Amino acid sequence: MTPVQENIHPIFHRILQRADKEALLEQRAKVIWLTGLSGSGKSTIAEAAEKELHKMGFVTMLLDGDNIRAGINNNLTFSAEDRIENIRRIAEVSKLFLNCGIITINCFVSPTNDIRTLAKGIIGEEDFIEVYVNAPLEVCEARDVKGLYAKARKGLIPDFTGITAPFEAPEHPALTIPTHELEIQEGVQRLLDFILPIISNKN
Ligand code: ADX
Repeated sequence: MTPVQENIHPIFHRILQRADKEALLEQRAKVIWLTGLSGSGKSTIAEAAEKELHKMGFVTMLLDGDNIRAGINNNLTFSAEDRIENIRRIAEVSKLFLNCGIITINCFVSPTNDIRTLAKGIIGEEDFIEVYVNAPLEVCEARDVKGLYAKARKGLIPDFTGITAPFEAPEHPALTIPTHELEIQEGVQRLLDFILPIISNKN
């Protein structure tokens, strides 16, 4: 234990528990972790799914790479080391929402097995639902919604996932959504069909 940690006395046991919040919200909290290349469709699917869940009465939070990197993680680059710190902080933040009974939908490239294992370790295996939003690199590059692949090919963006930085497909995702083979609404429906039985706790 470091000297700083010796002087820290967490009060987790005294505060209201997650079960109290979940009962109030009539839902079971989970972290739905969408991983995939930039442009694979993570945010598109998450945004639409969140709106549907909201209509059904679920309390949700959507965390997205571009938003988080504009705020709490605005001091981080895309180096391998900073990506680990990015995901570590996001996983800790997700855990706060989880303990508040909130269904958290995360959209992060989270490119390696090690990085996703780190997130799963922080959040807890039971509460971490890994979803692979899978579109081949060629498809993501052809879509190039943000124009980043073109820039990366010109050498203007260092460490770009899929081009000059690795992406490892998840080995055992709970669900895979092949966005190149589905209409957007079909992908959204697959996600909803998978998670609704897990998060529902309504009378
Ligand atoms: S992660 O690898 O650390 O998980 P994160 O999901 O936070 O990445 O951010 C990815 C988003 O940042 C992409 O959707 C893209 O818009 C943008 N981006 C900018 N530079 C890069 C890069 N070098 N590699 C990947 N994504 C990048």
